[in-house]
Amino acid sequence: MTTTPFDWDAYYEAMSGRPLRKNLVAALEHWGDRPPGNAVDLGAGDGLETRELASRGWQVTAIDGHADLSTQLAGVEGVVAQHADFAQITELPASDLVVAAFSLPFCPPAHFDPLWGAIRTCLRPGGILAVEFFGVRDKWAGTPGMTFHTHNDVERMLWGLETLLLDEDERDGRAFDGPKHWHVFHVIARCPEGERHSPEPSTD
Ligand SMILES: C[S@@+](CC[C@H](N)C(=O)[O-])C[C@H]1O[C@@H](n2cnc3c(N)ncnc32)[C@H](O)[C@@H]1O
Repeated sequence: MTTTPFDWDAYYEAMSGRPLRKNLVAALEHWGDRPPGNAVDLGAGDGLETRELASRGWQVTAIDGHADLSTQLAGVEGVVAQHADFAQITELPASDLVVAAFSLPFCPPAHFDPLWGAIRTCLRPGGILAVEFFGVRDKWAGTPGMTFHTHNDVERMLWGLETLLLDEDERDGRAFDGPKHWHVFHVIARCPEGERHSPEPSTD
């Protein structure tokens, strides 16, 4: 996996017993009572969101660069776990829901656009994204191997999607490894019906 200075085992331990990510809960409310479909959980971590989706009948592809995920999710009905580095992802299975909870910022800048392109392309019409981005004033901004965005960057990335939530949250708080200034964009967006992939506008 791309090198960042984070100890993911320590992260999972510190986060043990955490509640489901609110962004996923809100995305599922937007999904409503339609039948569950195919989901991708990118940077699935401890697998909590993946398990929840599977328990609700979703077919989930859970992807993480940490090898333990496959072991943890082995045998969970409806789940395929894949050990993969964001830096190598250019294609994802066609999906009705893409979840990436606090994980996309750990994709290196040079690989972010192909990863985001894969996310946009895999989303089926009516499909929903529930993702977080980190802002440029986040304490971890500048960490090698991580990607940070401005509000304008986020709006540009969502071009052609129906934005259901764009919540920019900036505050002092705590991370698993100590005090932290957080600058986070919580995003939920939907691919319009009848569209597969909306290209971003030209920046020329
Ligand atoms: C902050 S954790 C988030 C985990 C979980 N989604 C959650 O909400 O708690 C980030 C996750 O991204 C994974 N990750 C970090 N860098 C990665 C990379 N380059 N490729 C794939 N996964 C990566 C880590 O292993 C970790 O599980």
